Amino acid sequence: MSWNRKHLLDIESLSAAEINTVLETARAFKAVGERAIKKVPALRGKTVVNLFIEPSTRTRCSFELAALRLTADVINFPAEASSLKKGETLKDTARNLESLNADIFIIRHSAAGAPHFLARFLNASVVNAGDGAHEHPTQALLDAFTIREKKGRIEGLKVTILGDILYSRVARSNIWALTKLGAQVTLCGPSTLVPRAFEQMGCRVTYNLEEAIADADIINLLRIQHERQRKTMFPGIGEYASLYGLTKTRLTGTKPDALIMHPGPINRGVEIDSEIADGERSVILEQVTNGLAVRMAVLFLVNGGQGPQEVAA
Ligand code: CP
Repeated sequence: MSWNRKHLLDIESLSAAEINTVLETARAFKAVGERAIKKVPALRGKTVVNLFIEPSTRTRCSFELAALRLTADVINFPAEASSLKKGETLKDTARNLESLNADIFIIRHSAAGAPHFLARFLNASVVNAGDGAHEHPTQALLDAFTIREKKGRIEGLKVTILGDILYSRVARSNIWALTKLGAQVTLCGPSTLVPRAFEQMGCRVTYNLEEAIADADIINLLRIQHERQRKTMFPGIGEYASLYGLTKTRLTGTKPDALIMHPGPINRGVEIDSEIADGERSVILEQVTNGLAVRMAVLFLVNGGQGPQEVAA
């Protein structure tokens, strides 16, 4: 297994072999995280910048802890208290931080393409932590890791992604990753949020919720991305919840071993009932746990690591 990329900008450009290298490296780092001493010196002397220009709980904390577990120094860029507020551009901000000898930039930004833009002029590695509605590569990698860990495989599984697909970077990255790994992906939600154009990405589109979840091995729920919707896409949250929310009644129409996933943050009572979110079929918090191992793997690989064979046993 080998990895030769300096950046992780998206899933679209990765091969199945590269995705598998990340997943196998993450498996090795998950084992490291289960030891008494959870730190390794893989990034000792390196500096990681957490450049989050958009809110985040899971991804920001996960990347910070991943960098610390690899013994890197970490700058958590305070976007709200930074000179961005005085009109400094993203490019100037990044170049000034790079002048502090930063080695890896992790960027979350509301603009699609912001990580690709940084990668054009920085010497440092760039990792996409979510860019607008474009991609969220490490979310898709941790989702794939979780599916493989729980089900033993991805190829041939039926995965239904339910909700606001149009504005979801998680959906796009998941579609790329899961179809490359051989899963059958179905998309479902209101027609305004699930355009048939997504069929061109190799997945099935349906507006019939019961049919979409009936034979799914995995049901991945997405919240409504209000922050990215520029107009009203459906009459109201109440109507959305009644037509597309995963309720206990609807859960009875699914396979008994179907896993319930959600990237978070969850909106209880809208896309998912609380009892399901906290129930035994939910792997939502395991996704968060696995995100740490996946992000350790990504930081290790973009810093020149080749694959799991280099992670100390
Ligand atoms: N899943 C996810 O990206 O969550 P955060 O926005 O909290 O990072």
